[in-house]
Amino acid sequence: MSDCAIILAGGEGTRMRSDKPKVMAELLFRPMLSWVTDAAKKAGINDILVVTGYKSEIVEEYLNGSCRTARQEKRLGTGHAVMQAMDFIKEHSGSDVLILNGDAPLIDDKTITEGLKYHREGGFVQTVISAKIDDPFGYGRIVRDENGNFIAITEEASATEEIKRINEINSGVMWFDCDTLADLLGKLKNDNSKGEYYLTDTVAIALSEKKKVGAYITANTDAVLGANSRVQLYELNEKVRISILKSFMLEGVSIPCTDGVIIDKNTIIGRDTVILPGTIIKEGCKIGSGVTLGPNTVLYRTEVGDNSVLNQVQAEEAVIGEDVTAGPFVHIRPDSKLDKGVHCGNFVEVKNSVIGEKTSISHLTYVGDSDVGSGVNFGCGVVTVNFNGKKKNRCTVGNDAFIGCNTNLIAPVKIGDRAYTAAGSTVTEDVPEDALVIARSRQTVKEDWVTKNKPYREKK
Ligand code: UD1
Ligand code: MG
Repeated sequence: MSDCAIILAGGEGTRMRSDKPKVMAELLFRPMLSWVTDAAKKAGINDILVVTGYKSEIVEEYLNGSCRTARQEKRLGTGHAVMQAMDFIKEHSGSDVLILNGDAPLIDDKTITEGLKYHREGGFVQTVISAKIDDPFGYGRIVRDENGNFIAITEEASATEEIKRINEINSGVMWFDCDTLADLLGKLKNDNSKGEYYLTDTVAIALSEKKKVGAYITANTDAVLGANSRVQLYELNEKVRISILKSFMLEGVSIPCTDGVIIDKNTIIGRDTVILPGTIIKEGCKIGSGVTLGPNTVLYRTEVGDNSVLNQVQAEEAVIGEDVTAGPFVHIRPDSKLDKGVHCGNFVEVKNSVIGEKTSISHLTYVGDSDVGSGVNFGCGVVTVNFNGKKKNRCTVGNDAFIGCNTNLIAPVKIGDRAYTAAGSTVTEDVPEDALVIARSRQTVKEDWVTKNKPYREKK
Protein backbone atom coordinates (compact mmCIF):
# COMPACT_ATOMS: atom_id res chain seq x y z
CA MET A 1 0.00 0.00 0.00
CA SER A 2 1.38 3.41 -0.87
CA ASP A 3 1.12 6.54 1.25
CA CYS A 4 -1.98 8.65 0.98
CA ALA A 5 -3.25 12.03 2.13
CA ILE A 6 -6.39 13.52 3.63
CA ILE A 7 -6.99 17.24 3.10
CA LEU A 8 -9.41 19.00 5.44
CA ALA A 9 -11.49 21.41 3.42
CA GLY A 10 -14.86 21.55 5.14
CA GLY A 11 -14.65 24.96 6.79
CA GLU A 12 -16.80 27.92 5.84
CA GLY A 13 -14.25 30.64 6.48
CA THR A 14 -16.71 33.22 7.78
CA ARG A 15 -14.10 35.97 7.85
CA MET A 16 -13.57 35.73 4.08
CA ARG A 17 -17.13 37.08 3.68
CA SER A 18 -17.58 34.92 0.62
CA ASP A 19 -20.26 32.74 -0.93
CA LYS A 20 -17.59 30.16 -1.62
CA PRO A 21 -15.91 27.75 0.81
CA LYS A 22 -12.70 29.16 2.23
CA VAL A 23 -10.41 26.66 0.45
CA MET A 24 -11.70 28.03 -2.87
CA ALA A 25 -10.34 31.52 -2.10
CA GLU A 26 -7.67 32.15 -4.69
CA LEU A 27 -3.98 32.64 -4.27
CA LEU A 28 -2.55 33.91 -7.57
CA PHE A 29 -5.63 32.78 -9.53
CA ARG A 30 -5.66 29.26 -8.11
CA PRO A 31 -7.81 28.08 -5.19
CA MET A 32 -5.83 27.59 -1.97
CA LEU A 33 -6.90 23.95 -2.12
CA SER A 34 -5.06 23.41 -5.41
CA TRP A 35 -1.80 24.60 -3.85
CA VAL A 36 -2.23 21.94 -1.17
CA THR A 37 -3.12 19.12 -3.59
CA ASP A 38 -0.15 20.15 -5.79
CA ALA A 39 2.25 19.96 -2.82
CA ALA A 40 0.99 16.47 -1.92
CA LYS A 41 1.30 15.29 -5.52
CA LYS A 42 4.77 16.79 -5.85
CA ALA A 43 5.74 14.82 -2.74
CA GLY A 44 4.72 11.69 -4.65
CA ILE A 45 1.33 11.14 -2.97
CA ASN A 46 -1.33 10.45 -5.54
CA ASP A 47 -4.13 8.88 -3.52
CA ILE A 48 -5.73 11.97 -1.98
CA LEU A 49 -9.08 12.33 -0.25
CA VAL A 50 -10.53 15.78 0.32
CA VAL A 51 -13.02 16.18 3.17
CA THR A 52 -15.61 18.72 2.05
CA GLY A 53 -18.27 20.36 4.19
CA TYR A 54 -19.56 23.88 3.63
CA LYS A 55 -20.91 24.05 0.06
CA SER A 56 -19.37 20.65 -0.76
CA GLU A 57 -20.65 20.73 -4.31
CA ILE A 58 -18.46 23.73 -5.22
CA VAL A 59 -15.32 21.93 -4.08
CA GLU A 60 -16.40 18.65 -5.70
CA GLU A 61 -17.09 20.41 -8.98
CA TYR A 62 -13.70 22.07 -8.89
CA LEU A 63 -11.88 18.80 -8.14
CA ASN A 64 -13.83 17.13 -10.95
CA GLY A 65 -12.72 13.63 -9.93
CA SER A 66 -9.01 14.51 -9.62
CA CYS A 67 -9.14 13.57 -5.90
CA ARG A 68 -11.50 11.39 -3.91
CA THR A 69 -13.93 13.24 -1.63
CA ALA A 70 -15.94 12.58 1.54
CA ARG A 71 -18.59 14.88 2.93
CA GLN A 72 -18.68 16.16 6.50
CA GLU A 73 -22.32 17.06 6.90
CA LYS A 74 -21.80 19.06 10.13
CA ARG A 75 -18.67 20.96 11.09
CA LEU A 76 -17.78 19.36 14.39
CA GLY A 77 -14.04 19.95 14.30
CA THR A 78 -10.87 18.74 12.61
CA GLY A 79 -11.00 15.34 14.37
CA HIS A 80 -14.58 14.86 13.20
CA ALA A 81 -13.55 15.84 9.67
CA VAL A 82 -10.90 13.10 9.61
CA MET A 83 -13.47 10.60 10.96
CA GLN A 84 -15.39 11.08 7.69
CA ALA A 85 -12.42 9.49 5.93
CA MET A 86 -12.52 6.31 8.03
CA ASP A 87 -13.13 3.97 5.07
CA PHE A 88 -10.19 5.55 3.23
CA ILE A 89 -7.95 5.17 6.30
CA LYS A 90 -8.91 1.50 6.70
CA GLU A 91 -8.31 0.90 3.01
CA HIS A 92 -4.73 2.06 3.57
CA SER A 93 -4.13 -0.12 6.61
CA GLY A 94 -0.41 -0.83 6.98
CA SER A 95 0.76 2.44 5.42
CA ASP A 96 1.08 6.08 6.50
CA VAL A 97 -1.39 8.87 5.90
CA LEU A 98 -0.64 12.57 5.67
CA ILE A 99 -3.16 15.06 7.06
CA LEU A 100 -3.15 18.53 5.53
CA ASN A 101 -5.25 21.64 6.10
CA GLY A 102 -6.78 23.01 2.92
CA ASP A 103 -6.39 26.58 4.19
CA ALA A 104 -2.58 26.55 4.46
CA PRO A 105 -1.52 26.82 0.81
CA LEU A 106 2.22 27.33 1.29
CA ILE A 107 2.93 23.79 2.43
CA ASP A 108 5.57 22.32 0.12
CA ASP A 109 6.73 18.88 -0.95
CA LYS A 110 10.06 19.23 0.86
CA THR A 111 8.40 19.82 4.25
CA ILE A 112 6.09 16.86 3.63
CA THR A 113 8.89 14.44 2.72
CA GLU A 114 11.20 15.65 5.49
CA GLY A 115 8.36 15.09 7.96
CA LEU A 116 7.85 11.57 6.64
CA LYS A 117 11.55 10.78 6.95
CA TYR A 118 11.52 11.96 10.58
CA HIS A 119 8.33 9.93 11.18
CA ARG A 120 9.80 6.72 9.72
CA GLU A 121 13.31 7.03 11.15
CA GLY A 122 11.97 7.82 14.62
CA GLY A 123 9.55 4.89 14.51
CA PHE A 124 6.65 7.21 15.42
CA VAL A 125 2.96 6.34 15.04
CA GLN A 126 2.16 10.03 14.72
CA THR A 127 4.38 12.95 13.69
CA VAL A 128 3.24 16.54 13.90
CA ILE A 129 5.02 19.09 11.74
CA SER A 130 5.61 22.15 13.89
CA ALA A 131 7.22 25.54 13.37
CA LYS A 132 8.57 28.29 15.56
CA ILE A 133 6.96 31.57 14.61
CA ASP A 134 7.01 35.12 15.93
CA ASP A 135 3.27 35.47 16.46
CA PRO A 136 1.75 32.15 17.59
CA PHE A 137 -1.68 33.66 18.35
CA GLY A 138 -4.53 31.44 17.19
CA TYR A 139 -2.48 28.33 16.55
CA GLY A 140 -2.36 25.11 18.59
CA ARG A 141 0.78 25.20 20.78
CA ILE A 142 3.30 22.37 20.96
CA VAL A 143 3.72 21.62 24.67
CA ARG A 144 6.95 19.93 25.77
CA ASP A 145 8.09 18.72 29.20
CA GLU A 146 11.24 19.96 30.96
CA ASN A 147 13.31 17.47 28.93
CA GLY A 148 11.94 18.81 25.67
CA ASN A 149 9.74 15.78 25.06
CA PHE A 150 6.56 16.50 23.15
CA ILE A 151 3.57 15.91 25.42
CA ALA A 152 0.51 17.60 23.90
CA ILE A 153 -1.01 20.17 21.56
CA THR A 154 -3.11 22.80 23.30
CA GLU A 155 -5.47 24.94 21.27
CA GLU A 156 -5.56 28.73 21.81
CA ALA A 157 -9.04 28.55 23.35
CA SER A 158 -7.88 26.12 26.04
CA ALA A 159 -4.42 27.55 26.63
CA THR A 160 -3.19 29.01 29.92
CA GLU A 161 -1.17 32.25 29.84
CA GLU A 162 2.00 30.20 30.16
CA ILE A 163 1.09 27.98 27.23
CA LYS A 164 0.08 31.00 25.14
CA ARG A 165 3.69 32.19 25.41
CA ILE A 166 4.96 29.07 23.61
CA ASN A 167 5.95 29.99 20.06
CA GLU A 168 6.25 26.47 18.65
CA ILE A 169 2.98 25.78 16.91
CA ASN A 170 1.13 22.96 15.16
CA SER A 171 1.20 23.51 11.40
CA GLY A 172 -1.82 21.24 11.05
CA VAL A 173 0.28 18.88 8.91
CA MET A 174 0.64 15.43 10.45
CA TRP A 175 1.80 11.98 9.44
CA PHE A 176 -0.02 9.02 11.03
CA ASP A 177 0.23 5.30 10.86
CA CYS A 178 -3.23 4.52 9.41
CA ASP A 179 -4.13 1.80 11.92
CA THR A 180 -3.15 3.99 14.88
CA LEU A 181 -5.14 6.91 13.46
CA ALA A 182 -8.28 4.77 13.08
CA ASP A 183 -7.91 3.65 16.69
CA LEU A 184 -7.24 7.18 18.05
CA LEU A 185 -10.20 8.72 16.22
CA GLY A 186 -12.49 6.31 18.06
CA LYS A 187 -11.21 7.68 21.35
CA LEU A 188 -11.59 11.42 20.64
CA LYS A 189 -13.95 13.38 22.87
CA ASN A 190 -15.46 16.82 22.38
CA ASP A 191 -15.22 17.93 26.02
CA ASN A 192 -13.68 21.33 25.30
CA SER A 193 -15.01 24.88 25.30
CA LYS A 194 -16.01 24.68 21.61
CA GLY A 195 -17.58 21.22 21.87
CA GLU A 196 -15.51 20.13 18.87
CA TYR A 197 -13.56 16.96 18.15
CA TYR A 198 -10.00 18.27 17.90
CA LEU A 199 -7.64 16.18 15.82
CA THR A 200 -4.87 17.63 17.95
CA ASP A 201 -6.15 15.72 21.01
CA THR A 202 -4.88 12.50 19.41
CA VAL A 203 -1.37 13.44 20.62
CA ALA A 204 -2.20 13.25 24.33
CA ILE A 205 -4.25 10.05 23.84
CA ALA A 206 -1.43 8.31 21.95
CA LEU A 207 1.14 9.37 24.54
CA SER A 208 -1.07 8.16 27.40
CA GLU A 209 -0.99 4.77 25.69
CA LYS A 210 2.82 4.93 25.61
CA LYS A 211 2.87 5.29 21.82
CA LYS A 212 5.71 7.19 20.15
CA VAL A 213 4.63 10.61 18.91
CA GLY A 214 7.06 13.02 17.24
CA ALA A 215 7.12 16.72 16.47
CA TYR A 216 9.29 17.70 13.53
CA ILE A 217 10.21 21.38 13.59
CA THR A 218 10.33 22.68 10.04
CA ALA A 219 12.55 25.61 9.12
CA ASN A 220 9.99 26.61 6.48
CA THR A 221 7.76 28.80 8.62
CA ASP A 222 5.77 29.85 5.53
CA ALA A 223 4.45 26.28 5.35
CA VAL A 224 2.11 27.05 8.23
CA LEU A 225 0.72 30.34 6.99
CA GLY A 226 -2.96 30.45 6.26
CA ALA A 227 -5.46 33.05 5.19
CA ASN A 228 -8.60 33.62 7.20
CA SER A 229 -9.52 37.00 5.75
CA ARG A 230 -9.02 38.80 2.45
CA VAL A 231 -6.36 40.96 4.07
CA GLN A 232 -4.36 37.86 5.02
CA LEU A 233 -5.04 36.47 1.53
CA TYR A 234 -3.60 39.65 0.02
CA GLU A 235 -0.53 39.30 2.25
CA LEU A 236 -0.03 35.70 1.12
CA ASN A 237 -0.54 36.70 -2.52
CA GLU A 238 2.10 39.39 -2.22
CA LYS A 239 4.57 37.05 -0.53
CA VAL A 240 4.10 34.30 -3.10
CA ARG A 241 3.99 36.70 -6.04
CA ILE A 242 7.34 38.27 -5.20
CA SER A 243 8.98 34.95 -4.41
CA ILE A 244 7.85 33.53 -7.77
CA LEU A 245 9.12 36.63 -9.60
CA LYS A 246 12.49 36.35 -7.85
CA SER A 247 12.78 32.68 -8.80
CA PHE A 248 12.19 33.62 -12.46
CA MET A 249 14.79 36.41 -12.17
CA LEU A 250 17.29 33.84 -10.90
CA GLU A 251 16.52 31.73 -13.99
CA GLY A 252 17.45 34.62 -16.31
CA VAL A 253 14.16 36.50 -16.75
CA SER A 254 14.34 40.30 -16.42
CA ILE A 255 11.62 42.02 -14.44
CA PRO A 256 12.89 45.58 -14.08
CA CYS A 257 9.85 46.65 -12.05
CA THR A 258 7.54 44.15 -10.37
CA ASP A 259 4.53 46.50 -10.23
CA GLY A 260 1.39 44.66 -11.26
CA VAL A 261 3.36 41.66 -12.52
CA ILE A 262 1.82 38.31 -11.63
CA ILE A 263 3.18 35.07 -13.03
CA ASP A 264 1.70 31.64 -12.44
CA LYS A 265 4.21 29.39 -10.68
CA ASN A 266 4.11 26.68 -13.37
CA THR A 267 4.91 28.99 -16.29
CA ILE A 268 7.91 28.12 -18.42
CA ILE A 269 9.94 31.20 -19.43
CA GLY A 270 13.17 31.27 -21.44
CA ARG A 271 16.26 33.35 -20.72
CA ASP A 272 16.60 37.02 -21.52
CA THR A 273 12.86 37.48 -21.64
CA VAL A 274 11.77 40.83 -20.25
CA ILE A 275 8.51 41.24 -18.35
CA LEU A 276 7.26 44.80 -18.03
CA PRO A 277 4.78 46.25 -15.50
CA GLY A 278 1.14 45.25 -15.52
CA THR A 279 1.80 41.90 -17.15
CA ILE A 280 -0.19 38.92 -15.89
CA ILE A 281 0.69 35.41 -16.97
CA LYS A 282 -2.01 33.00 -15.87
CA GLU A 283 -1.91 29.21 -15.90
CA GLY A 284 -0.77 27.14 -18.84
CA CYS A 285 1.68 29.51 -20.55
CA LYS A 286 5.02 28.78 -22.13
CA ILE A 287 7.18 31.75 -23.10
CA GLY A 288 10.34 31.52 -25.20
CA SER A 289 13.61 33.35 -24.74
CA GLY A 290 14.37 36.94 -25.68
CA VAL A 291 10.66 37.78 -25.56
CA THR A 292 9.34 41.13 -24.34
CA LEU A 293 5.96 41.00 -22.63
CA GLY A 294 4.18 44.17 -21.60
CA PRO A 295 3.57 46.65 -20.42
CA ASN A 296 0.05 45.43 -19.63
CA THR A 297 0.02 42.10 -21.38
CA VAL A 298 -2.27 39.32 -20.12
CA LEU A 299 -1.77 35.72 -21.22
CA TYR A 300 -3.76 32.58 -20.45
CA ARG A 301 -2.91 29.10 -21.78
CA THR A 302 -0.79 30.67 -24.48
CA GLU A 303 2.57 29.84 -26.02
CA VAL A 304 4.89 32.61 -27.17
CA GLY A 305 7.92 31.87 -29.38
CA ASP A 306 11.44 33.30 -29.05
CA ASN A 307 12.06 37.01 -29.60
CA SER A 308 8.43 38.01 -29.91
CA VAL A 309 7.29 41.37 -28.58
CA LEU A 310 3.79 41.65 -27.12
CA ASN A 311 2.96 45.17 -26.04
CA GLN A 312 -0.48 45.58 -24.41
CA VAL A 313 -1.74 42.28 -25.73
CA GLN A 314 -4.38 39.95 -24.32
CA ALA A 315 -4.13 36.37 -25.54
CA GLU A 316 -6.04 33.28 -24.52
CA GLU A 317 -5.52 29.69 -25.63
CA ALA A 318 -3.35 30.80 -28.50
CA VAL A 319 -0.06 29.83 -30.06
CA ILE A 320 2.12 32.80 -30.96
CA GLY A 321 5.24 31.92 -32.92
CA GLU A 322 8.76 33.38 -32.97
CA ASP A 323 9.54 36.97 -33.93
CA VAL A 324 5.90 38.04 -33.73
CA THR A 325 5.24 41.68 -32.94
CA ALA A 326 1.86 42.58 -31.56
CA GLY A 327 0.32 45.63 -30.01
CA PRO A 328 -0.48 47.99 -28.64
CA PHE A 329 -4.10 46.94 -27.93
CA VAL A 330 -4.26 43.54 -29.57
CA HIS A 331 -6.57 40.68 -28.65
CA ILE A 332 -5.62 37.15 -29.69
CA ARG A 333 -8.56 34.90 -28.85
CA PRO A 334 -8.80 31.11 -28.46
CA ASP A 335 -7.66 28.67 -31.13
CA SER A 336 -5.50 31.18 -32.95
CA LYS A 337 -2.05 30.42 -34.29
CA LEU A 338 0.29 33.17 -35.40
CA ASP A 339 3.28 31.88 -37.36
CA LYS A 340 6.79 33.26 -37.32
CA GLY A 341 7.19 36.97 -37.96
CA VAL A 342 3.49 37.88 -37.97
CA HIS A 343 2.74 41.51 -37.14
CA CYS A 344 -0.48 42.66 -35.49
CA GLY A 345 -0.72 46.39 -34.95
CA ASN A 346 -3.06 48.49 -32.87
CA PHE A 347 -6.69 47.49 -32.37
CA VAL A 348 -6.44 44.11 -34.06
CA GLU A 349 -8.45 41.08 -32.99
CA VAL A 350 -7.74 37.54 -34.15
CA LYS A 351 -10.01 34.62 -33.29
CA ASN A 352 -9.90 30.93 -34.20
CA SER A 353 -7.59 31.65 -37.12
CA VAL A 354 -4.28 30.55 -38.50
CA ILE A 355 -2.08 33.41 -39.69
CA GLY A 356 0.85 32.44 -41.92
CA GLU A 357 4.47 33.61 -41.69
CA LYS A 358 5.22 37.31 -41.98
CA THR A 359 1.61 38.26 -42.57
CA SER A 360 0.92 41.81 -41.48
CA ILE A 361 -2.33 42.96 -39.89
CA SER A 362 -1.43 46.47 -38.94
CA HIS A 363 -4.50 48.42 -37.88
CA LEU A 364 -8.12 48.17 -36.78
CA THR A 365 -8.81 44.74 -38.22
CA TYR A 366 -10.83 41.68 -37.21
CA VAL A 367 -9.72 38.28 -38.46
CA GLY A 368 -12.04 35.54 -37.20
CA ASP A 369 -12.51 31.90 -38.28
CA SER A 370 -9.95 32.30 -41.06
CA ASP A 371 -7.05 30.47 -42.63
CA VAL A 372 -4.56 33.05 -43.79
CA GLY A 373 -1.44 32.27 -45.77
CA SER A 374 2.02 33.79 -45.49
CA GLY A 375 3.12 37.24 -46.58
CA VAL A 376 -0.44 38.59 -46.66
CA ASN A 377 -1.02 42.27 -46.07
CA PHE A 378 -4.24 43.39 -44.43
CA GLY A 379 -4.97 47.07 -44.90
CA CYS A 380 -6.56 49.18 -42.21
CA GLY A 381 -10.09 48.27 -41.14
CA VAL A 382 -10.50 44.84 -42.75
CA VAL A 383 -13.28 42.67 -41.38
CA THR A 384 -13.83 38.99 -41.92
CA VAL A 385 -17.61 38.78 -41.73
CA ASN A 386 -17.72 35.33 -40.21
CA PHE A 387 -21.21 35.26 -38.67
CA ASN A 388 -24.42 35.43 -40.65
CA GLY A 389 -26.65 35.52 -37.61
CA LYS A 390 -27.04 31.75 -37.56
CA LYS A 391 -23.75 30.16 -38.34
CA LYS A 392 -20.02 30.92 -38.31
CA ASN A 393 -18.23 30.43 -41.64
CA ARG A 394 -14.55 30.49 -42.56
CA CYS A 395 -12.53 32.70 -44.86
CA THR A 396 -9.41 31.56 -46.67
CA VAL A 397 -6.75 34.02 -47.80
CA GLY A 398 -3.92 32.74 -50.02
CA ASN A 399 -0.20 33.52 -49.73
CA ASP A 400 0.95 37.06 -50.55
CA ALA A 401 -2.59 38.32 -51.05
CA PHE A 402 -3.24 42.01 -50.50
CA ILE A 403 -6.48 42.88 -48.72
CA GLY A 404 -7.26 46.52 -49.28
CA CYS A 405 -8.40 48.88 -46.55
CA ASN A 406 -11.96 48.45 -45.31
CA THR A 407 -12.52 45.22 -47.19
CA ASN A 408 -15.34 43.04 -45.89
CA LEU A 409 -14.73 39.37 -46.59
CA ILE A 410 -18.18 37.77 -46.37
CA ALA A 411 -17.55 34.20 -45.24
CA PRO A 412 -17.38 31.61 -46.62
CA VAL A 413 -15.09 33.13 -49.21
CA LYS A 414 -11.68 32.32 -50.63
CA ILE A 415 -9.08 34.81 -51.82
CA GLY A 416 -6.46 33.21 -54.08
CA ASP A 417 -2.68 33.55 -53.76
CA ARG A 418 -1.37 37.01 -54.68
CA ALA A 419 -4.91 38.33 -55.34
CA TYR A 420 -5.76 41.96 -54.50
CA THR A 421 -8.98 43.35 -53.13
CA ALA A 422 -9.70 46.99 -53.85
CA ALA A 423 -10.16 49.20 -50.80
CA GLY A 424 -13.74 49.35 -49.60
CA SER A 425 -14.76 46.12 -51.33
CA THR A 426 -17.37 43.80 -49.91
CA VAL A 427 -16.28 40.45 -51.26
CA THR A 428 -18.99 37.81 -51.44
CA GLU A 429 -17.55 35.38 -54.00
CA ASP A 430 -14.22 33.60 -54.33
CA VAL A 431 -11.40 35.53 -56.01
CA PRO A 432 -8.95 33.56 -58.18
CA GLU A 433 -5.21 33.83 -57.68
CA ASP A 434 -3.41 36.83 -59.19
CA ALA A 435 -6.74 38.64 -59.73
CA LEU A 436 -7.92 42.05 -58.56
CA VAL A 437 -11.44 42.21 -57.21
CA ILE A 438 -13.30 45.50 -57.05
CA ALA A 439 -16.58 45.04 -55.26
CA ARG A 440 -17.85 48.54 -54.58
CA SER A 441 -19.99 50.99 -56.48
CA ARG A 442 -18.26 53.08 -59.13
CA GLN A 443 -17.63 56.72 -58.19
CA THR A 444 -19.97 59.29 -59.75
CA VAL A 445 -19.04 63.00 -59.80
CA LYS A 446 -21.87 65.54 -60.33
CA GLU A 447 -20.31 68.78 -61.46
CA ASP A 448 -21.69 71.98 -59.78
CA TRP A 449 -24.20 69.97 -57.77
CA VAL A 450 -23.61 72.12 -54.68
CA THR A 451 -24.05 75.48 -56.41
CA LYS A 452 -27.24 74.29 -58.07
CA ASN A 453 -28.85 72.58 -55.10
CA LYS A 454 -27.61 74.81 -52.30
CA PRO A 455 -27.86 72.09 -49.65
CA TYR A 456 -26.71 74.59 -46.98
CA ARG A 457 -28.56 77.46 -45.21
CA GLU A 458 -28.18 80.80 -46.91
CA LYS A 459 -25.99 83.17 -44.88
CA LYS A 460 -27.87 86.30 -43.71
C1 UD1 B 1 -6.01 23.99 13.30
C2 UD1 B 1 -5.41 23.20 14.47
C3 UD1 B 1 -4.31 24.04 15.15
C4 UD1 B 1 -3.27 24.44 14.12
C5 UD1 B 1 -3.92 25.15 12.92
C6 UD1 B 1 -2.92 25.34 11.82
C7 UD1 B 1 -7.14 21.76 15.37
C8 UD1 B 1 -8.15 21.57 16.46
N1 UD1 B 1 -6.43 22.89 15.44
O1 UD1 B 1 -6.62 25.16 13.87
O2 UD1 B 1 -3.69 23.28 16.16
O3 UD1 B 1 -2.31 25.27 14.71
O4 UD1 B 1 -4.99 24.35 12.38
O5 UD1 B 1 -3.47 26.10 10.78
O6 UD1 B 1 -6.99 20.89 14.54
N2 UD1 B 1 -12.16 21.78 8.92
C9 UD1 B 1 -13.09 20.88 8.48
N3 UD1 B 1 -14.12 20.56 9.30
C10 UD1 B 1 -14.28 21.07 10.53
C11 UD1 B 1 -13.33 22.00 10.98
C12 UD1 B 1 -12.27 22.33 10.16
O7 UD1 B 1 -12.98 20.37 7.37
O8 UD1 B 1 -15.25 20.70 11.20
C13 UD1 B 1 -11.03 22.12 8.06
C14 UD1 B 1 -10.99 23.59 7.68
O9 UD1 B 1 -11.63 23.82 6.45
C15 UD1 B 1 -9.48 23.86 7.56
C16 UD1 B 1 -8.85 22.82 8.48
O10 UD1 B 1 -9.84 21.86 8.75
O11 UD1 B 1 -9.03 23.65 6.24
C17 UD1 B 1 -8.39 23.47 9.79
O12 UD1 B 1 -9.53 24.01 10.43
P1 UD1 B 1 -9.52 25.43 11.10
O13 UD1 B 1 -10.87 25.69 11.65
O14 UD1 B 1 -8.93 26.41 10.18
O15 UD1 B 1 -8.54 25.14 12.32
P2 UD1 B 1 -7.57 26.16 13.01
O16 UD1 B 1 -8.33 26.95 14.01
O17 UD1 B 1 -6.80 26.89 12.00
MG1 MG C 1 -7.12 27.51 9.97
